[in-house]
Amino acid sequence: MKIEGVRIIDAHQDVFGDIKIQDGKIVEITEKKVSEDEFEKAQILFPGLIDPHVHFREPGFEYKEDIESGSRAALSHGVTGFFDMPNTNPPTFTREILKEKKQIAEKTSFANYAFYFGAGPDNQSEIEKVDQVPGTKLYLNTTTGNLRMDDENRWCEIFRIGKKVSLHAEGDTFERAVKNWLEEGSPCELHLCHASLRSEVELVRKVKQEKSLANKITMEVCPHHLFMTHKDREKHGAFCCMKPELATEDDLAAMWEGVLDGTIDMFATDHAPHTKEEKESEQTFYGIPGVETLFHLLFTEFLERGYNLKKFSAMTSHNIYEKFRIKDQKGLIKSGYDADLVLVDPNWSGAISADNFYSKCRWTPFAGRAIRGEIQKVYLAGEEVFDGENILSGQEGQALKF
Ligand code: DOR
Ligand code: ZN
Ligand code: ZN
Repeated sequence: MKIEGVRIIDAHQDVFGDIKIQDGKIVEITEKKVSEDEFEKAQILFPGLIDPHVHFREPGFEYKEDIESGSRAALSHGVTGFFDMPNTNPPTFTREILKEKKQIAEKTSFANYAFYFGAGPDNQSEIEKVDQVPGTKLYLNTTTGNLRMDDENRWCEIFRIGKKVSLHAEGDTFERAVKNWLEEGSPCELHLCHASLRSEVELVRKVKQEKSLANKITMEVCPHHLFMTHKDREKHGAFCCMKPELATEDDLAAMWEGVLDGTIDMFATDHAPHTKEEKESEQTFYGIPGVETLFHLLFTEFLERGYNLKKFSAMTSHNIYEKFRIKDQKGLIKSGYDADLVLVDPNWSGAISADNFYSKCRWTPFAGRAIRGEIQKVYLAGEEVFDGENILSGQEGQALKF
């Protein structure tokens, strides 16, 4: 199969041409000369996006979302892979429970998948033995589920296992965690989820300046912390309640500075669906959906700000595969790489609407926001799985390899 006459953008190139796909892989790229005008108006082919932070809620909270609905949602908006979080019920604290999640995904996932392992009160030996996961998720603050760990000695024990640890930390716990990690001699790779404060970005910038540490620490940021502040919390009430909470204009500016100078490595959504009824109730439910607004929010903003789309692709795809050491050849449009691709018409403009969401969560605080770029086709391993309107595939997601 061939995709012809498109602008091919990934982390390393922005060229016009054709690509040839065979047996699920890109086998040839042929560059072609075009006028500047044609180049600007051409359809764009990106590597499929990967979302390194979603809560697809299965098992335990399938009424909010499940792997099937969450992965369909992902695919329909250009996200061909995801890492799901361990705060399901039961939490992903044992290899047995991990295996069950993977078995569900094998049968029901429309996109490629990986599952985080959770740091529990007494699962040290399970963490030591587990493999084929992006990392161990350690919660240092309260959020959905009951996974918070306050004992700093336990944090250090988990760091000392030596495997990548991803942290839910906020402000003060963020600083304490990084301090402990440094004092332990940085015995593992550290990934910081959902940056939200200027102080967090500045701390990571400083750590990365130390050459021996630069490759051991990574950071993600979510669209909601790039586009909204506490003022939106006031405006939208519970529908903008999440952890970490929305911060100030200055924090938001710091997120973009971190994106531009590489302190922040990647985008992630923290897709955290809850029902409308839950959000309207007296109880507090942290989180908002995100996997169906990731592409449009960021693609549009990169265009508006005149930022380089190679960086957009790096931060939504290649960097994630690279920093999490995924063994599959994914995230670039390159000979030998898997043909997980998204075809976009950049000339289209419209607005975000939850009406076309595949998620069970059919609301978003971004509703009505002006966006650009129509997703016309999504390919998974060379097969057209979304045609711009309908999902065409069966459940063909594969386990990502680490
Ligand atoms: O708002 C949030 N919701 N933040 C998180 O970190 C977790 C998530 C959830 O699981 O609902
Ligand atoms: Zn979190
Ligand atoms: Zn989360």
